[in-house]
Amino acid sequence: MEYSALSELLRVTDDPKIISLAGGLPAPESFPLKIIEKLNKLVLKKYGASTFQYGPTDGAKILREQIVIWLKERNMKVAIENIGVTSGSQGALDTIGKIFINEGDIIAVESPTYIGAIDAFAPYGPKYAEIKTDDDGVIPESLETILKTKKIKFVYLVPTFQNPTGRTITWERRKQIAKIIKKYGTLLIEDDPYNSLRYRGIAVDPIQTLIPDQTVYLCTFSKVLAPGLRIGFYSAPNNIAKLMMASKQSVDLHTNSYGQYLSAEYLKTGDLKKHLPKILKIYKSRQEAMLEALKNYFPKTFSWTHPEGGMFIWLTGPKNFDAGKLYWKAIENKVAFVPGTYFFATPGIGKNTMRLNFTNVSEIEIEKAIKKLSQTIKSL
Ligand SMILES: Cc1ncc(COP(=O)(O)O)c(C=O)c1O
Repeated sequence: MEYSALSELLRVTDDPKIISLAGGLPAPESFPLKIIEKLNKLVLKKYGASTFQYGPTDGAKILREQIVIWLKERNMKVAIENIGVTSGSQGALDTIGKIFINEGDIIAVESPTYIGAIDAFAPYGPKYAEIKTDDDGVIPESLETILKTKKIKFVYLVPTFQNPTGRTITWERRKQIAKIIKKYGTLLIEDDPYNSLRYRGIAVDPIQTLIPDQTVYLCTFSKVLAPGLRIGFYSAPNNIAKLMMASKQSVDLHTNSYGQYLSAEYLKTGDLKKHLPKILKIYKSRQEAMLEALKNYFPKTFSWTHPEGGMFIWLTGPKNFDAGKLYWKAIENKVAFVPGTYFFATPGIGKNTMRLNFTNVSEIEIEKAIKKLSQTIKSL
């Protein structure tokens, strides 16, 4: 295992004078503190000491039942036996690495992909095949070429409001992808933490709905309740769900009981439905502020994604632009972002790309930061 070079790079962003578009943090003002206060009382009254007792490895039954109902809204038909609760979806990614990856196995990932998955899989020593992408996400022909020519252990995708690009794979392409995965008999890991964060447009069903027997679906309460609770979950075919549970048992026995009861009641009482529009309102206006500022200030040689939701915007500069160089200059000017190269499974590519987060910064600061960034680019 190697210490993450990206964490090292981002350490300087702790300086409160820096406007950070670097992290992927939800806005603290989006956390439903009043609701949590109410649910806290309810949970203690209703479930008492059991909220602080050891619990089942696959998660509290009440939460798994509520997750089954929640996933129905995404047209997913899953049973309680398919669901397991994890310490964030990151916990599920670690478990997946542990049970599936042998050293040298090849995993197909989007180009670029979620760095946290690469970090979770790293200790098991995989290799990667990068699937080509465009504005509609994964290019199905590229996936097919990879599956035809290489022995792939599984395909890992973030199809909706992807981290880092914010892109969403269209329904047409989801059908093609499902068909290809079915044809080659491989497994899909569908990581879907941003599903609920849609600011415009029409929801697209998860790929899981097309190939439920070949998909491990991951989601989380981190973006709709609070990430500090560390409550995530998976839905997996029965045989895989059993393995995931066996693997988790030796790691942490189970995810924290209190957070599970709280999350269950957040769903059961309808509080999530009540609170979600407030989160969406905050993020929509921040995203619009960033897109507007980019349009007003950024050099015309740059292009960027226009996601319908999520937390990120992805920028591509001219071929000779080096986002790594810009990073240190931008830090001097008190603005931070993530150079895009860190999100590619193959080291050294994507040097002219960058990821911006808009959820944890006010509209005013966003405008200031984008203006400064573009001035820094021009000075370089
Ligand atoms: C694509 C993706 N997967 C998983 C995670 C992990 O989320 P958590 O462990 O908080 O559920 C994140 C966090 O940002 C993410 O972007």
